[in-house]
Amino acid sequence: MIEFLLHNDKVQLQDINPNTTVLQFLREHRQLNGTKEGCASGDCGACTVVIVQLDEQNQLCYKSINACITLISALHGKQLISVEALQQQQLHSVQQAMVDCDGSQCGFCTPGFVMSLFALQKNSSDHQEHEVQQALAGNLCRCTGYRAINRAAEQALKSTVVDHFDPLARDTTQSLIAIRQRPPKDSQTGLNYQQQQSHLPEDLTALAQLLIDYPTARIIAGGTDLAVEITQRAQQFSNLICVQQVSQLQEQQVTDQHIEIGAAVSLHQCQQLLAPYFPDFSQMLERFASLQIRNQGTLGGNIANASPIGDTPPALIALDAKLILRRGANTRELPVQDFFLDYRKTALQPSEFIEKILIPLPEPHTDSDWALKIYKITKRLDDDISAICAANFLRLNNRGEVISIRLAYGGMAAIAKRASKTEQALIGKEWSYANIENALACLSQDFQPLSDFRASSDYRLLVAENLLRKLYLETQHMCPGSSHSAANSTIETRISNYV
Ligand SMILES: Cc1cc2nc3c(=O)[nH]c(=O)nc-3n(C[C@H](O)[C@H](O)[C@H](O)COP(=O)(O)OP(=O)(O)OC[C@H]3O[C@@H](n4cnc5c(N)ncnc54)[C@H](O)[C@@H]3O)c2cc1C
Ligand code: FES
Ligand code: FES
Repeated sequence: MIEFLLHNDKVQLQDINPNTTVLQFLREHRQLNGTKEGCASGDCGACTVVIVQLDEQNQLCYKSINACITLISALHGKQLISVEALQQQQLHSVQQAMVDCDGSQCGFCTPGFVMSLFALQKNSSDHQEHEVQQALAGNLCRCTGYRAINRAAEQALKSTVVDHFDPLARDTTQSLIAIRQRPPKDSQTGLNYQQQQSHLPEDLTALAQLLIDYPTARIIAGGTDLAVEITQRAQQFSNLICVQQVSQLQEQQVTDQHIEIGAAVSLHQCQQLLAPYFPDFSQMLERFASLQIRNQGTLGGNIANASPIGDTPPALIALDAKLILRRGANTRELPVQDFFLDYRKTALQPSEFIEKILIPLPEPHTDSDWALKIYKITKRLDDDISAICAANFLRLNNRGEVISIRLAYGGMAAIAKRASKTEQALIGKEWSYANIENALACLSQDFQPLSDFRASSDYRLLVAENLLRKLYLETQHMCPGSSHSAANSTIETRISNYV
């Protein structure tokens, strides 16, 4: 059985198809039709709803998500708020702002915009313009513009009106704690409907055992990849194991050597966790899909999905990150770069899963300096999947020579992989424009990229070359006595034509 709050009402479900999306539940099971279906693939934001969950301090945390690709089991222990709950006697301050500023547009996109703004308004009181852009980047309107909506955002965020959710916060917290303390009697089974089941294990041992008992079951974390198979390819999964309730998979900690991230930590949480240590990684995650997807999608899911254009694998490979894989009580450590075997083929054994990700913190040395640079190349800035993603880790000694370099690319091969020959051509050499130019020839030995609708093979190779030049431009200050040279202008011109 799963249990959650729909607005303020307790809902218990057992006999429902686990392949049901939150959007279907709202519209077809509860006739709450305010939440719209646009694309049914997480792209447009029309279906945005808000889920409220307790954080570690038992504070309520509001997250916008795409109802169209979130499966119903993900609601267990949370509160679901759809657009119908916002208006009581009068419009919610977010809705009123949309009216006042002429921000309301067609009936398809407006409910989604309102819900994204509602989540933003509830979460904090100190909003930067940048935060507003982030909150709205996953809500598309193809007809008009965003100026009026931005004005509405500004008004809504300045509002000091207490809404009808605030006085109920204590009750909501108590209800969610009560659900958490009352795990499903048979903690293994969440939903059971005809031949279809979903399981909600609450700890690692239960999860590991379930995967041994049901070796063909599919793990579902955020579902932002898996649920698309249901909505776009008419797949139905007969056995799902939902890992979001497994507390150990939500853990994150920083030790002297590593950043440890549980596999089910959301991409949005990763973005915040990584910011002080690897700002480039965090900034790249800011451009990973939309906030709705980052709130729901997980780091473990992005790795296990093994897409050649997944964004975190190149960054993790460049940082020499390791995976802790578990099967039953046994664990093993595997470098991320050895996890990907072939197109969508990974080193995971039957019943094995990713438990956590270890990202080493580069050791500080007095005689060397390091840099991590990540470049995500897409057709549009926000909410788009990479044509190429290049992640580069570079360490130079104090003479300006390359001690180590890891150049990892997504979108250049069937798997995320390093440009080993190019790296070899640079190791031990002075970090200079001339040496970069010499090494560039190796890139075409490392990669023979495919042409597809995102980019042609030639374009990918050319961009990869230019990204290496860009890396040089952005790191040459690490070399002793560096200054802006005539060569820089040449490189800048060449790069700006293509990147
Ligand atoms: C609109 C849209 C935009 C997107 N944009 C981007 C983007 O910009 N960059 C990008 O890289 N991706 C993007 N994605 C893909 C997706 O959001 C990510 O891959 C996400 O990280 C998947 O995580 P999840 O938790 O949702 O995975 P799920 O869908 O739950 O799972 C994905 C796969 O991993 C397996 N799995 C999950 N967790 C584990 C585990 N712990 N151990 C073993 N197997 C596991 C599942 O069985 C499944 O096969 C986008 C998707 C959508 C719908
Ligand atoms: S309907 Fe487009 S994101 Fe859900
Ligand atoms: S999609 Fe709603 S007004 Fe453009």
